[in-house]
Amino acid sequence: MKFFIDTANLDQIREAQDLGVLDGVTTNPSLMAKEGITGRNNILKHYVDICNIVDGDVSAEVIATDFDGMVKEGEQLAELHEQIVVKIPMIKEGIKAIKYFSDNGIRTNCTLVFSAGQALLAAKAGATYVSPFIGRLDDISTDGLNLIAEIRLIYDNYGFETQILAASVRHTMHVLECAKIGSDVMTGPLSSIEGLLKHPLTDIGLEKFLADYKKGN
Ligand code: E4P
Repeated sequence: MKFFIDTANLDQIREAQDLGVLDGVTTNPSLMAKEGITGRNNILKHYVDICNIVDGDVSAEVIATDFDGMVKEGEQLAELHEQIVVKIPMIKEGIKAIKYFSDNGIRTNCTLVFSAGQALLAAKAGATYVSPFIGRLDDISTDGLNLIAEIRLIYDNYGFETQILAASVRHTMHVLECAKIGSDVMTGPLSSIEGLLKHPLTDIGLEKFLADYKKGN
């Protein structure tokens, strides 16, 4: 299972990269705004800065919502760096753009996916990744993890190569459950990755080992 971090914060990206288990980064316009990155040129530069920190794929989202605009913007994003994956919203024009990019060797991440039907369409269009937002479904009393399971079943039934990128992951249990279901990737905050480290028996055990070592040395 690949671990992506869902942030535009360079310090957090560095921290996750230093841990040695990071496979990529996802961003979105809200995450960019949160870091105060505004203006087209600054945003493009920020994507390159992220690519220079991590080894894996970096999702960069288009703002246009029409086919021509998405193609123009997506081609510009893809040219920035070989690690860039163009993030396209799950709308009718977006599906056309994903198909265009797939036919032209540009990798895509279909974002804002909330149903299995949408995920099926994204795969048919040739998306590299599909991003079901599980946390936002949980927020409205709908089981986000069930969506991951539905998509896994459908993709396996037909051998679709589109990778399931569980997005809007909020905590470690989301990560674990996605791993059990067989999600290809998860993207979440640094806390959802670092939370996997924690167990009180590990801390107690280590404290005891160190104390016992000191007694004899
Ligand atoms: C995915 O690529 C999105 O950036 C993200 O996971 C959305 O998460 P949120 O629901 O926590 O905003």
